[in-house]
Amino acid sequence: MTPIISVRNLKKVYRSFIPRMNVVAVDSISFDVNKGEVFGILGPNGSGKTTTLRMVLGLLRPTSGTVRLFNKMPQSLEVRKSIGYLPEKTTLYGFLNAFETLRLFGAMSGMSKRHAMERAEEILRRLDLGDARRRIGSYSKGMARKVAFAQAILADPELLILDEPTSGLDPLSAATVRTILEEMKSKGKTIVISSHILSDIQKMCDRVVIIAKGRIRAEGSLSSLLTREGYTRLVLKADPSQKEMVLKVLSDAGLSVERIENDTVELDKLFLEVLGKDGVGSCS
Ligand SMILES: Nc1ncnc2c1ncn2[C@@H]1O[C@H](COP(=O)(O)OP(=O)(O)O)[C@@H](O)[C@H]1O
Ligand SMILES: [Mg+2]
Repeated sequence: MTPIISVRNLKKVYRSFIPRMNVVAVDSISFDVNKGEVFGILGPNGSGKTTTLRMVLGLLRPTSGTVRLFNKMPQSLEVRKSIGYLPEKTTLYGFLNAFETLRLFGAMSGMSKRHAMERAEEILRRLDLGDARRRIGSYSKGMARKVAFAQAILADPELLILDEPTSGLDPLSAATVRTILEEMKSKGKTIVISSHILSDIQKMCDRVVIIAKGRIRAEGSLSSLLTREGYTRLVLKADPSQKEMVLKVLSDAGLSVERIENDTVELDKLFLEVLGKDGVGSCS
């Protein structure tokens, strides 16, 4: 099967008037993304994620190397229609409200007015922006980010490219974004996410590349990268006071125990549970 994205030996040097100030932002990166995958590009600030995505999208000319999207050049009109893109920096018209923004974008994407409005209503409601008819210029950063995300998914694109999708979002909104992305994945959409937020990548991606200083340092399925061969984590319904007994049972069975600790939930899970109890910000 032909990959949806195919990147070969991609390199970007940002040139300066002073040659020693040239920046090699991306250095010989190659990867494929297959249909239906959620692919993560993980790396610290300045590692080349945004530069890579902009080259993949055909918005930035590579110094060398090739990009194919749907086996075509990224600039091709047909390809562009199949892509939703959330840029790293939110760029929206401050004088429009969220509905007007999406209606305009829908019209530019060739969607019918009615379809665009229905999609916009649904997505904005889910993102808890349903009643936000104020102009975007007065939105908080996170609210504007959600509108930009809504814009990226409005036309239900085959390929979604998201540069730091949850940056600036509260945990509840980030969870809604993740849920929407899971739904898109289940419909066979292909999704590429760049992030420096490790838990985001861990929660959403099937396969990742880890980049640093413009180079791929590790790649593979998340489960293969994170699995510690030969170790199994067991969560027991037992009180810490029963530790001795648990250890004895396991050692009698010839198993060695590396550590015993209380099981905990992640802070974001606790946060969502607490908000859920009070019925705050429900996002069905
Ligand atoms: N327009 C530009 N001109 C010069 N250098 C740039 C430009 N854009 C990015 N860079 C540099 O390229 C490197 C990679 O940047 P970027 O792709 O934005 O990384 P990331 O998205 O991983 O934070 C950084 O060193 C950054 O300073
Ligand atoms: Mg970036």
